[in-house]
Amino acid sequence: MGGAHARVVDQAESVNTITLRAPAKLNWTLEVLRARPDGYHELRSVMQTVDLCDEITLMRHDRIELEVRGDPPLADEPPERNLAFRAADALRRRAGVDVGVRIVLEKRIPVAAGLGGGSSDAAAVLRGCNTLWNARLDDGALSELAKELGSDVPFFLFGGTAAIAGRGDVVEPLDDAVAADILLATPPAGDRGEKTAAMFAALSPDDFTEGDATAALREAVGAGRPIADGMLMNAFERVLTRMQPETERAMDALRAQRTSARLAGAGPSFFVVLDHRDGRAALMERTRELGFEPRVARTLSRESALEMRRS
Ligand code: C5P
Repeated sequence: MGGAHARVVDQAESVNTITLRAPAKLNWTLEVLRARPDGYHELRSVMQTVDLCDEITLMRHDRIELEVRGDPPLADEPPERNLAFRAADALRRRAGVDVGVRIVLEKRIPVAAGLGGGSSDAAAVLRGCNTLWNARLDDGALSELAKELGSDVPFFLFGGTAAIAGRGDVVEPLDDAVAADILLATPPAGDRGEKTAAMFAALSPDDFTEGDATAALREAVGAGRPIADGMLMNAFERVLTRMQPETERAMDALRAQRTSARLAGAGPSFFVVLDHRDGRAALMERTRELGFEPRVARTLSRESALEMRRS
């Protein structure tokens, strides 16, 4: 008996490399209820991972090191500013372990696009290093660290389809939504500055809702009904004219073709839920003409979102 136990521990401790995917997300709904005294806003949302993923490799190392591939501007930034690096550093402090990790981050999710790439990388590093270092922090402790890194990070610890409340930090995993193909449209890499705070600041009480759209969408997901265009909503669309006119113009043009087009997060990307009637090639071509880069992705289940390969 003792031998079997020892073997399990040995296996856990002999992991040298972990490879995992960090998926992008979209918000099926994104409602803002009110401004909070702590400077954040109270949210209700149903979030969804999609199969556009960054690839992350974590290797045991004597210190924390980060290499970014596939996105030259990001690769040139000081590593300490990257959320993936900061996630490893935060976990190491919290767990009190004297080990390091070499992180190789292959970027495929467009940066600062509203698709949650940086937050997803951070969550993947938290989960991966927790395993690599055998740190054994539970979900509650990981969620606390995640929330300090950013409001979207806790969701990515679970992925799949999940209901979000609080400032983004209250995550309730739901059954996976009925799978769907999604057209993601991202603007050319331009302003990579912090636009989320500006988008929140642009909202006024007129833009606040009660969470009913989110409750209705949750119910549909719980009942196994496919997500329909009419169930989607995003509070930030109300300030697009002022804040992101190019995105609004492109979304309006696609809506004129009887597609749903919804903002992804706080923008500037947007998405269209594809159904079998859509002429996908024509839709992608039109998106390109409008100055946005189209990608077709598929919703990613929780099980796939949490996959990790160890060696
Ligand atoms: O949490 P995170 O650092 O990603 O948030 C960036 C900014 O977005 C915050 O400083 C805040 O201004 C705004 N925000 C908000 N309400 C939220 C999440 C973010 O007002 N629920």
